[in-house]
Amino acid sequence: MKPIGEQIKEKPWLGWIIFLCTIIIVFFLGLLASSIIERRAEAVFAYTPEVEHSQWEPRNEIWGKNFPRQYNRYMQTSDTSFASKYNGGAMRDMLEEDPRLVVLWAGYAFSKDYSQGRGHFYAITDIQQNLRPGSPVDGAKSPLPNTCWTCKSPDVPRVMQEVGIAEFYKGSWETRGHEIVNFIGCADCHDAQNMNLRITRPALIEAFDRRGVDINKVSHQEMRSLVCAQCHVEYYFQGDGKYLAFPWDNGFTAENMEEYYDSYSFADWTHSISKTPMLKAQHPDYELFMTGIHAQRGLSCADCHMPYMNEGGQKFTDHKIQSPLNNIANTCQVCHREETSKLIANVYERQDKIKQNRDKLEELLVRAHVEAGKAWELGAKETEMQAILQNIRHAQWRWDFIAASHGGSFHSPIESARIISTGIDIAQEARIKLARLLATYGYNNELPYPDISTKAKAQKFIGLDTEKLRNEKDRFLKEVIPQWKKQAEEREKNYETKNI
Ligand code: HEC
Ligand code: HEC
Ligand code: HEC
Ligand code: HEC
Repeated sequence: MKPIGEQIKEKPWLGWIIFLCTIIIVFFLGLLASSIIERRAEAVFAYTPEVEHSQWEPRNEIWGKNFPRQYNRYMQTSDTSFASKYNGGAMRDMLEEDPRLVVLWAGYAFSKDYSQGRGHFYAITDIQQNLRPGSPVDGAKSPLPNTCWTCKSPDVPRVMQEVGIAEFYKGSWETRGHEIVNFIGCADCHDAQNMNLRITRPALIEAFDRRGVDINKVSHQEMRSLVCAQCHVEYYFQGDGKYLAFPWDNGFTAENMEEYYDSYSFADWTHSISKTPMLKAQHPDYELFMTGIHAQRGLSCADCHMPYMNEGGQKFTDHKIQSPLNNIANTCQVCHREETSKLIANVYERQDKIKQNRDKLEELLVRAHVEAGKAWELGAKETEMQAILQNIRHAQWRWDFIAASHGGSFHSPIESARIISTGIDIAQEARIKLARLLATYGYNNELPYPDISTKAKAQKFIGLDTEKLRNEKDRFLKEVIPQWKKQAEEREKNYETKNI
């Protein structure tokens, strides 16, 4: 066969055909690439309704009668068999794994008990089983407000419809315990009329509103993240009514939110050793994700945490919301050609590197709290401590912003690393000031690092009576929870559903 160049010279139309074919191929490749990257959800479901139910029906099994595929996968958020290096659905006692946390949260309920998040299936169980709610810290009774229920259950929008938003948040969490019994579910994210995605949590709508954005006008792809941003965000409880609010008025970065909180002189609690007015970061997953490359390339949470799957030729959205590392083939590999082990290594590498500096910051914070405690003990004055405590507050806020965002090190590694490094800088500043202050009070040695090698030792160090806590929890689980369940069963008998 002659070389192609010579053939074209003999038959000039051949060149045009090759040219046209190339254009067509490139055009279709382009279409394919854009459909892969945007992965806009198609209307992939056709169904015959089995039951009719109200907009605020909280029971997943009722919605599930109409959508068994989504329901069955959603129920599998109960699976606790997968643990990745840092995340996954398995139960992890974070205070046991890292007892320094106990000291960082001294005086706050998190120092009593803190387990890593599991699947949505456990949202109610885990808050009830936890030692935190209602049990005493330092002898003082400190029941959590009803606001704590907000991200746990579709009973929340149901009760808000009945009693009003502000009223819902008021009071301590025991007063609504019998109302909030169904774990996070369909009604939280879907409109019962047409199954469109919907936002049910007022705090998100109000936060967008204050930024001048009408949440009803965002794109479909954005909604595939915003349904998650109802809960996977930084938030706080405003005022005596404990009204749930997101601190986004100045922007989404750690600094923007810190400025917001400082302008209110807001504090979640006062640290029991250093007396610092502290901020507790919740889980700014959405905010951090938005600063990463995947968000910048137009991905939404659902692209990795709720990929498409196929069953009997039917394409639908996988509702087993979990770590994507348990499902690389349907998530990462839709876009990346690398093999599974390499993609997992990419994730772990980012997480390991950020953890390395986060651990360093954690140790600096333990030392700063203990040194500040010593300064008070030696008679330091409020005016001398003020700048130091502000440093501790800001440094720990940065540490927590990253520690509490479980996916952050992958979602946005560069921003995560930046926040941790500014935290280290500020913690060092606090310790330099502390060294000077301690010296003026005649203390020139390095304070010994406390023995907090286990959770029990750390809790003892901050003066927690864990025996008492455990008794209180046992009583609560045995006496209170069964009553709540019984009340809920009675109430739910009256909900209207109709078989069709
Ligand atoms: C490009 C893929 C991708 C996107 C998009 C994405 N994530 Fe993740 N997410 C991950 C990976 C990878 C991890 C780390 C999993 C691990 O360590 O096991 C993770 C971890 C998490 C975790 C902790 C998981 C666990 O097992 O405890 C949460 C929560 C989370 N992401 C929420 C979100 C939210 C909310 C969004 C959208 C705002 C989002 N993610 C968008 C890939 C993604
Ligand atoms: C109504 C509040 C709420 C909404 C909406 C919500 N989550 Fe969650 N999510 C939670 C809570 C609470 C937990 C922790 C449950 C526990 O540990 O008991 C959780 C846990 C998770 C986990 C950890 C699962 C595991 O196996 O470790 C992932 C991943 C996650 N959510 C992703 C998402 C994504 C993606 C969306 C949006 C499609 C979303 N969530 C929407 C409240 C919510
Ligand atoms: C945390 C939010 C969330 C919860 C809870 C949730 N879904 Fe979804 N659901 C989604 C998202 C995101 C999509 C994808 C929508 C899209 O892209 O149009 C979806 C899609 C669907 C669809 C459209 C068809 C498909 O598979 O894409 C149906 C039907 C559905 N969900 C049913 C349910 C049912 C039934 C439940 C309760 C058992 C439920 N969903 C719980 C977020 C949620
Ligand atoms: C829907 C497509 C899509 C999915 C799904 C996806 N990615 Fe990506 N990923 C991208 C795009 C686009 C970029 C940016 C690359 C570019 O534009 O050059 C990227 C960038 C990356 C990078 C380099 C950015 C960085 O952080 O340094 C890594 C690593 C990565 N992805 C890993 C993953 C892993 C692991 C998963 C699964 C948990 C995943 N991706 C899922 C499209 C995707």
